[in-house]
Amino acid sequence: MSTGHKRPSGSGRLLTGVGSGQAKTLKESPPNKKARNSKHGESSVNAEISSSSSPVKPETLIDIFCDPENPKKVQFQDVSAAAYKIKTGIFHTPCSKSRLSDQLGMDIYFKKEFLQFTGSFKERGARYALLSLTPEQKKIGVIAASAGNHALALCYHGVDLSIPVTVVMPKIAPLMKVQNCRTYGAEVIIHGKSIFESREFAMKMGKENGKMYINGYDHPHIIAGQGTMGLEILEQVPDLDACIIPVGGGGLLAGTALAIKNLKPEVQVIGVESENCPSFSVSLKAGKAVYTESLSTLADGLAVPVVGVNALETAKRFH
Ligand SMILES: Cc1ncc(COP(=O)(O)O)c(C=O)c1O
Repeated sequence: MSTGHKRPSGSGRLLTGVGSGQAKTLKESPPNKKARNSKHGESSVNAEISSSSSPVKPETLIDIFCDPENPKKVQFQDVSAAAYKIKTGIFHTPCSKSRLSDQLGMDIYFKKEFLQFTGSFKERGARYALLSLTPEQKKIGVIAASAGNHALALCYHGVDLSIPVTVVMPKIAPLMKVQNCRTYGAEVIIHGKSIFESREFAMKMGKENGKMYINGYDHPHIIAGQGTMGLEILEQVPDLDACIIPVGGGGLLAGTALAIKNLKPEVQVIGVESENCPSFSVSLKAGKAVYTESLSTLADGLAVPVVGVNALETAKRFH
């Protein structure tokens, strides 16, 4: 695999996944300080794990569900299954015509996903991922690292579905989001100066406790869940010509493109990313997820230096 990172001599990475029964060792990349601009932190950039009391050695971990050597192409059936499963628990948000329409001489609609309970579309994937766990996994619970919306979504739906959720949030996570996660009743751990440290900690803890790690933009169920937004948009705007999707790790774009292109291939699906972090377009050109230097951007939630491998694999066929 290559993510465009430089490799240190002798560094190893344990590819691991709870409940997957698979594990293999990869030679992979080192921590990369340039990646710290990302808010998501679920890219394959790694940070060292410092705890010494743990039975898990301080190897860097990667996620079996987001394996760069075996990326998963999510299918339309996955989105349909997600739509069926999350019918209850997720709002069918309005997609209303904007006043900008007259000004710009075209019909512009906004899909108001901020009206989901926690304020973002991330709930779709989170709820579907939780509902797709085996009964055993539902008892043990899941773990994730996030500074914001993915954490909120998982915490809220975990509590709603009585599935234990642990989120690891970096010290820089907005206080309001940390408090809200706690208010929902989930376990919140503040760990790490950056989301990269939180992620490594979460993955290590997941491995120790048997909790599945859920990547917020690249777990296949997350991508399928986000795709349900595309289904709703088609229902709400039947004569849709084009759909513009913001791109961070690429989960929302991949899922939505999958839904829309399968049902209406003539609709243009346009991903928009920050000029200061063009990781998705760079990776599309390269044909694989490559590390892309990220400069600071107002759209900090979209600054993901390495996009999701499954998201890329799923979206690239529509390119
Ligand atoms: C409002 C909003 N739009 C788009 C995105 C990008 O989603 P993804 O990381 O799945 O590409 C995010 C990510 O957090 C977001 O918060």
